[in-house]
Amino acid sequence: MASILLMISCKLTSAVFQPSPWQLAHATFYGDETASETMGGACGYGNLFANGYGTDTAALSPTLFNNGYACGSCYQIKCFQSPWCFTGDIAFTRVTATNLCPPNWSQDSNAGGWCNPPRTHFDMSKPAFMKIAQWKAGIIPIMYRRVPCARSDGLRFSFQGNGYWLLVYVMNVGGGGDISQMWVKGSKTGWISMSHNWGASYQAFATLGGQSLSFMITSYTTKETIYAWDVAPSNWNQGLTYEANVNLR
Ligand SMILES: *[C@@H]1O[C@H](CO)[C@@H](O)[C@H](O)[C@H]1NC(C)=O
Repeated sequence: MASILLMISCKLTSAVFQPSPWQLAHATFYGDETASETMGGACGYGNLFANGYGTDTAALSPTLFNNGYACGSCYQIKCFQSPWCFTGDIAFTRVTATNLCPPNWSQDSNAGGWCNPPRTHFDMSKPAFMKIAQWKAGIIPIMYRRVPCARSDGLRFSFQGNGYWLLVYVMNVGGGGDISQMWVKGSKTGWISMSHNWGASYQAFATLGGQSLSFMITSYTTKETIYAWDVAPSNWNQGLTYEANVNLR
């Protein structure tokens, strides 16, 4: 018994997300102080207040966005060697990736096309930007690193689709915050592999109505796989969000 417990705790410990080294990039901001323009971004989280992400969010350049696989990942950001930087311990902020900053090929990468590949760029919400620098700066050099996403509560699964097609947005992911693969299991089926649709959404072309649903999720960064059993009851419906009692760390 003791050795089994030890093995389990070792496995969990090794899978805990570790921060990455600090790296240089640049940041701008979009929208205004209300962050209303950050809602409905390319990760599919919809209303960021209702879904727990708040205003501390950023749109990532395609190089960082990784076709949506970076959705939900968390970053610590500090302004770096600019006269616009706020100084001291408060000049750090932590953001969640909730959107894509698209390239603009009619602008030079060094003059407005800040999100053009291969640049690594954070287009932050204005409230997040205003924690590290004066907004008048427009663009600032930053240092950033991936950090674990501290999420209270469990994984959240928001259902869309129809009777033959289940589209699930996965939210409130802890640890690395990102997902590489996902499966669904109806109470009368085996595990069905889901394919990546867009942003943080995954889909299964299957008829799963009237069955309680479980999910299996593999973290993109740590490769840890967790099971969320019976997340949705058999009378589940599109348009609703279901919460698991497990999360990644
Ligand atoms: C791209 O840049 C051009 C030139 O500055 C600008 O007119 C246009 O609005 C930009 N497009 C987008 C989608 O931002």
